Amino acid sequence: MNDVHKTIIFVIFSLINLLALYVVATCPRGLTQYHGLCLTLPNQTMLMSWPNALGTCQDLGGTLLTIDNAQKQKDIEQFIADHYNVSRIDLHLPPVYEYHFMDGLDKFIRNEKYIQFDFKGCNDAYVILSEHRNSSFRSYEVLFGGWKNTLSVIRKCRQCAPMTTTSHSPLSCTEFKPFWISWENGTIRAGEGREVGASTFMEWSDSTSHPVNFFGISSWRTAQTSWRFLKDPYNSTFWLAGSDLGHHAQWEWFPKEDFVGFTNWLPGLEESQKRSPSRHCMQMSLHNDFKWAADNCMQNRNFICEISKHESSTKAPFGRGVG
Ligand SMILES: *[C@@H]1O[C@H](CO)[C@@H](O)[C@H](O)[C@H]1NC(C)=O
Ligand SMILES: *[C@@H]1O[C@H](CO)[C@@H](O)[C@H](O)[C@H]1NC(C)=O
Ligand SMILES: *[C@@H]1O[C@H](CO)[C@@H](O)[C@H](O)[C@H]1NC(C)=O
Ligand SMILES: *[C@@H]1O[C@H](CO)[C@@H](O)[C@H](O)[C@H]1NC(C)=O
Ligand SMILES: *[C@@H]1O[C@H](CO)[C@@H](O)[C@H](O)[C@H]1NC(C)=O
Repeated sequence: MNDVHKTIIFVIFSLINLLALYVVATCPRGLTQYHGLCLTLPNQTMLMSWPNALGTCQDLGGTLLTIDNAQKQKDIEQFIADHYNVSRIDLHLPPVYEYHFMDGLDKFIRNEKYIQFDFKGCNDAYVILSEHRNSSFRSYEVLFGGWKNTLSVIRKCRQCAPMTTTSHSPLSCTEFKPFWISWENGTIRAGEGREVGASTFMEWSDSTSHPVNFFGISSWRTAQTSWRFLKDPYNSTFWLAGSDLGHHAQWEWFPKEDFVGFTNWLPGLEESQKRSPSRHCMQMSLHNDFKWAADNCMQNRNFICEISKHESSTKAPFGRGVG
C-alpha cells in the first residue's frame, strides 16, 4: 500500500470515528448534553424525597447526580447557573422601625424552621418570628448589631427585655453578610455564615414556645437596611446521590455504593449531623454556594438526573463496535 492509499484509509477511519463519536455523544431524548454529560434540566423534575428522586432517575435509565471530582463540581455549578433562573428577593428598607412580613416564604419557614438571608447595613437588622401575621402578638424578636453594631439580642416579644445577648459587631455598612435564624423545638438560635446551625452566636430556649408561621424584617430609625433572600429556596436545593444510610457515617454514592472520595462539604458536617441525627442524604444548595450538606432524606428537593454517555451510546443504532 502506498502513502496515498494509507492516507485515504486513514481519512475514512477518522470519518467513521468522528461519526461514532457523534453518536456516542448524543443524549437520549429529553436530556441536555453538557460537557460530555447527559442531564435533565433543573426545572424538568418535580420536588421529591431522596429515595423517590433516586428511583425517578433510575426509571429514566440513569442515576441521581454524583460528583466525584472538582471539575465536575464546577461543570454542574455552571450547568445550574445556565439553566436555572435563581431569583432573589432584594429589599431595601428605610430607617423606620416597622415590620415588613415576607409572605412568599411562609411555607418554607413552617416546614424547615429556619431562615437564611444576606444583610447589608450599618446597624440594626430586626427579625420578627410570629405565630400570626402580627408582630405585636406571640412573636420572637431577633436583633443583629443593635446599639451601633455592638450587640445582638433575642427577645420574647417586640422591644421586650432581652432573653440573651451577645457583644460583637456582626454587620457591615458596605458588604452583604450571610446570617441564619432557626427555632426548632422552641430553641431560638442565631448565627452567621451559610450553614444553619454552625457559627451560632446566640441561643435561647423558650419553655413555653409558640409556633412560627410568619416572619418579618425591619430597620431601626437610624439606618436603612438591605436584605437578600432566595425567592425559591426549595427549587434551589438539589439532591446528590450520596448517603450514609448504607454504612453509618460512611458516605457512599447510590445505588453503586462507591465510597465518596472527592468532597465539597460545608464545614461542620459532623456537628450538623449530631444536631439533627436524621440527616443522611446529600444535597447542595444555591444558599450555600453549592457546598454539600447532609439533609433529611424525606424532604422534597429539586434534583438532576444523569445518564452516562456509555449507557446512552448503547441505545444509539450503531454507537458501539465502530472504531
Ligand atoms: C419550583 O419548581 C416547580 C417544579 O419543579 C415549579 O412548578 C414551581 O413553579 C417552581 N417554583 C418557582 C417559584 O419557580
Ligand atoms: C426549563 O429551562 C429551559 C432552559 O432554560 C427552558 O428552555 C425551558 O423552557 C424551561 N422549562 C420550564 C418548564 O420552565
Ligand atoms: C429570571 O427571572 C426573572 C424574574 O422572575 C426574569 O425577569 C428574568 O427575565 C429571568 N431570566 C431568565 C434568563 O430567564
Ligand atoms: C395584633 O395583636 C395585638 C396584641 O394582641 C392586638 O391588639 C392587635 O389588634 C393585633 N392586630 C391585628 C391586626 O390583628
Ligand atoms: C427536636 O425534637 C425532636 C423530638 O423530640 C428530636 O428528634 C430532634 O432531634 C430535636 N431537634 C433538635 C435540633 O434538637
